[in-house]
Amino acid sequence: MHATRPAGRLALNGGTPVSTTPVPFMKPQLHRADIDAAIAVLESGMLRAAARCEELERRFAEMSDARHGLTCSNGTTALQLAYGALFSAGDEILVPAWTYIATVSMVVAAGCTPVFVDCREDTFQMDPADAARKVTPRTRGIAATHLYGCPVDVDAFQSIAAKHGLRVVYDAAQSHLARYGGRGIGAFGDAVTYSFYATKNLGTGEGGLLTVNDDALAREIGLLRSHGETEKYLHERVGFNYRMNDITGAIGCSRLDRLPAETAARQSAAGRFDSILADLDGLAAPTVTPKAEAVWHLYTVKMDLSRFTCTRDEFCAALKAEGVPTAVHYPRATVDQPALTPWNRHDTPVASSLSARVFCLPMHHALTEEHFRVIEGSLRKVAEAFRA
Ligand SMILES: Cc1ncc(COP(=O)(O)O)c(C=O)c1O
Repeated sequence: MHATRPAGRLALNGGTPVSTTPVPFMKPQLHRADIDAAIAVLESGMLRAAARCEELERRFAEMSDARHGLTCSNGTTALQLAYGALFSAGDEILVPAWTYIATVSMVVAAGCTPVFVDCREDTFQMDPADAARKVTPRTRGIAATHLYGCPVDVDAFQSIAAKHGLRVVYDAAQSHLARYGGRGIGAFGDAVTYSFYATKNLGTGEGGLLTVNDDALAREIGLLRSHGETEKYLHERVGFNYRMNDITGAIGCSRLDRLPAETAARQSAAGRFDSILADLDGLAAPTVTPKAEAVWHLYTVKMDLSRFTCTRDEFCAALKAEGVPTAVHYPRATVDQPALTPWNRHDTPVASSLSARVFCLPMHHALTEEHFRVIEGSLRKVAEAFRA
């Protein structure tokens, strides 16, 4: 018996949609203040990394409970800088089988060997128990993603690292201002990397940042970021140009003013989704790691396909027709990407099977009561129509 009555023919099959106006999947628009901040830099003529990048570094680090912040060109170069400073060619690095590819591909780009670790079925985060099993005498580091805005089990990874003398990089591209054990995620690990890609919780178009707590490591990353230059045209080591510019820095500072309030709105939306899903058989809300405070870059629903007569893609197509766009993060597990075939040992079954079972609901700071009504109504209608 289901709590609600059948809600009519699916819009996909010619029925009336729950809403003719689609719920926006995300809301990455700039405010007037962001545009004014960018114009002020343009008018100043100081386009390179300068005062606004420094301000973003200082404020973002402080809000993340980290000692140093270093801006850079994007989240991928942030990973390259962290890996370049901490790992050496030939090192084995434990990596998530379920993440965005950059966390892993930049390990390969650094000449290291990625060793895939499965994810947990409940949180979707890298599984420390599987990581512990995969440590070998050649393991030198852990690269863990705080995926979808939710921190991994930091205590567990830090204790594996302490036991085996490993360096830890946390990829927080999707997890700005997330917390663990009551502290900002910048407090943990050797380095934490962030992306400010347009659709991230704080988006500047392109952009990135690292937080670190060790002074020498901060210096090393700073050198790698800018051609190893210690004084004008004196290059202490080989490095790159992975710098941010001050227009991006200014947009970042301006958006940072709103980030705490926008994060709180995401957290409240996640609470609404949790209660909608609580009585929807076959659709599971994401579980948050114990001690973690997630910032909900994405809200990922897991389907029990045995409870439905359709595939995930058919379910999502029906939701779209009702007015609820969804996205799949990710349609293919990182471990199963063709580029990473040489390192796939086919022993990460959870990650490999998740790609057919998950979808993300619209998630942003500007969801309204009407949006929640449409999302709830559509989920119920589609779930009933496809009930096994
Ligand atoms: C987990 C994760 N790591 C790294 C990146 C790369 O960041 P960027 O696109 O800024 O290079 C992303 C971006 O999507 C990401 O989601």
